[in-house]
Amino acid sequence: MRFDVLTLFPDMFEGVLAHSILKRAQAAGQLEVHLHDIRTYSTDKHHTVDDTPYGGGAGMVLKVDVLAAALDAIQAQPEVSQIPKECRRSILMCPQGTTFTQPLAQKAAEDYDQITLICGHYEGYDERIRSLVDSEVSIGNYVLTGGELPAMILIDAITRLKPEVLAEGSPEEESFSIFDENGTPLVEYPHYTRPLEFRGEKVPDVLTSGHHAEIKKWRLEQAKLRTTKLNESPLSHI
Ligand code: ADE
Repeated sequence: MRFDVLTLFPDMFEGVLAHSILKRAQAAGQLEVHLHDIRTYSTDKHHTVDDTPYGGGAGMVLKVDVLAAALDAIQAQPEVSQIPKECRRSILMCPQGTTFTQPLAQKAAEDYDQITLICGHYEGYDERIRSLVDSEVSIGNYVLTGGELPAMILIDAITRLKPEVLAEGSPEEESFSIFDENGTPLVEYPHYTRPLEFRGEKVPDVLTSGHHAEIKKWRLEQAKLRTTKLNESPLSHI
């Protein structure tokens, strides 16, 4: 899996890529993350990447010509252009996009071998940038200072689902990959490990019963309970 990230702040990615599964996947040659500083694609002497909006208003707007040059340069790289076109994708990170979910992460992991992620800043993008990309993705209905954190989230969520990266057996029974009888995604059931009792809280008896069918039933019930609770008055959960 290869990600090309267009950003004004490539250093922001360092910590995330240097740890855990993402680090291991890179070391094993299963993941490549190429960070491209948008500023290097600007041709004027001040390396301008943004400008004031036509019609006036606050903030700066990311320039379409600079981003187009960056996108073209990425697609022209031999390592990218040799990947079949249908296995490549360009995604604009923005609050107006489709909300990223586990099914979207799964689809991306199955369908694509190269994804270009564009991280914006300032007031927004020149609207014409939207026609240069395949899709627009948001990580949720809130506004961040830029697209870098959302891009890191996509890299993490997609990479860990790639068959070559996956620790065997793990993600099958995780949140949003378990479903009730109606196909509604459920959050994960509770897990316990030693000690058997901690500050008066005991591990549920069923988990130490050795009765696999009962354990399975209990886990599904717990997942349903948690999902119901999560969907009730979400504002009271923070
Ligand atoms: N940029 C700023 N906020 C964002 C969000 N919620 N999702 C994706 N990109 C963003």
